[in-house]
Amino acid sequence: MHHHKTTPDSPIGIFDSGVGGLTVVRAIQAILPAERIIYFGDTARVPYGSKSQVTIRKYAQDDTAILMRYHPKMIIVACNTVSALALDIVRKTSGSIPVIGVLEAGAELAVSMSKGKRIGVIGTQATVCSNAYACAINELDPDIEVHSKACPLFVPLAEEGFTDHPAARLIAEEYLREFDGRHIDTLVLGCTHYPILRGMIEKTIDPGIRIIDSAEAVARRAKELLKDSGMLNESTATATPHLLVSDLPQKFIMLYRLFMGAEMPDVELIDV
Ligand code: DGL
Repeated sequence: MHHHKTTPDSPIGIFDSGVGGLTVVRAIQAILPAERIIYFGDTARVPYGSKSQVTIRKYAQDDTAILMRYHPKMIIVACNTVSALALDIVRKTSGSIPVIGVLEAGAELAVSMSKGKRIGVIGTQATVCSNAYACAINELDPDIEVHSKACPLFVPLAEEGFTDHPAARLIAEEYLREFDGRHIDTLVLGCTHYPILRGMIEKTIDPGIRIIDSAEAVARRAKELLKDSGMLNESTATATPHLLVSDLPQKFIMLYRLFMGAEMPDVELIDV
């Protein structure tokens, strides 16, 4: 493997199965506007969360290899499913650069926020079945009770931009009923697609429940890590992200506009 020296001006590589990771891009831009971002959305193979561990691990390796072509100074796994099941593969494929996953960051923030020590987690089938959130949370605090619920239909709803559709609300009510009577005080959006549906989720759950966005959590962690290692980009210019997708760039442009409230800089179609 060629070792390229990374500098503060090197980009941050971010990937997800589709548009969900844009919630991480948005969170990074909010607190680190000068950072150059290279984003890959594997739109040809979304969703990941309903696939097997073997398949998810293979995809994670491909996605990391694609980002490595751009010599990033850090990789952010903007997909909870990959964070839960394949973070080791991402680390192996990326060599010596730091890798951070949304799941650890989300778990850490949830633990620091939950006073009543009862946390709800929603995520994909694969994330919930892996039990990775409960493990990460209980490693930090074994006294916390974790209740999880897989919400597989939330990913296609987000991918279709159904952010406040009555059908989406019905599905949310059906899934989130799981938490009735569980007395959770914190709910982790354990899939990066879910912040797109946040308004609807908020309307469906008890208003006293605090929502944790794993995308915001990982952005904060990225900032700390870059600062501590002297790798913050000191430029005063605002960088525009470079976006790569494996299918349907036009649809991605439409969704980008919807979620980011901005025109899409440029999008490149690549093979996986
Ligand atoms: N956005 C991803 C996650 O955070 C995966 C969604 C999917 O592809 O199923 O888990």
